[in-house]
Amino acid sequence: MGKVWIGFENGKYYYNEGDQKETMSTMVYLKNLIKDKNIASITPTSKSAVRQLCKTINFNKPLVIVEYGPATGVFTEYFLKEMTDDSMVIAIELNDNFVDYLRKNIKDKRLKIYHDSAENIDQILEKLEITNVDYIVSGIPFTLMDTDLRKRIIQKTNSALRKGGEFLAYQTFFQKDEHLKDYLVKEFREVTDKIAYKNIPPLRTYRAIR
Ligand SMILES: C[S@@+](CC[C@H](N)C(=O)[O-])C[C@H]1O[C@@H](n2cnc3c(N)ncnc32)[C@H](O)[C@@H]1O
Repeated sequence: MGKVWIGFENGKYYYNEGDQKETMSTMVYLKNLIKDKNIASITPTSKSAVRQLCKTINFNKPLVIVEYGPATGVFTEYFLKEMTDDSMVIAIELNDNFVDYLRKNIKDKRLKIYHDSAENIDQILEKLEITNVDYIVSGIPFTLMDTDLRKRIIQKTNSALRKGGEFLAYQTFFQKDEHLKDYLVKEFREVTDKIAYKNIPPLRTYRAIR
């Protein structure tokens, strides 16, 4: 049998052995949620919802994936597990505690972490000398943004993708079309959306193809 939960000691949490990393990342997530309204969802995305949103990603070839709002890295770790050795993840996170957490806990040369806002995706890609990317996966809360910022991020996202590249986004399930879908339809060639029920709360997911 694995270790049982024994609490907090010398700056460390102790949990059931198998779940140690996952529980730790949830704790870090919840601690920051209280202080930062931009986190906007009560728990990290479930593994099942991560797989559902990423179903259309073809991991068999080298990819460049951009992630907006990785928080404690549930999507980031999934990408790193699935993708080839010559692929790359560019993670852009606004919250500095999450940036520190990711830098300390995910050591992988294929991962580049930026403490920045998704609205600066164009400058980040320019620095990396990358002209376009294959996928952009996003959990940032579009509802909390003003119209101009929302439009700017979606336009820059479209420009950053190669032709046929995909923007895969998730928001909480009660989001209206006017929060995100209407903007996507204006910019992208094809837009579909679904509900991912295996998450607390359920998510509304979007696939927008350039
Ligand atoms: C709903 S949480 C998603 C967390 C994580 N991806 C997951 O699936 O568990 C939203 C994340 O987006 C970050 N965020 C909010 N606005 C952002 C922005 N403009 N640019 C980059 N990150 C942002 C928040 O700090 C938070 O980590």
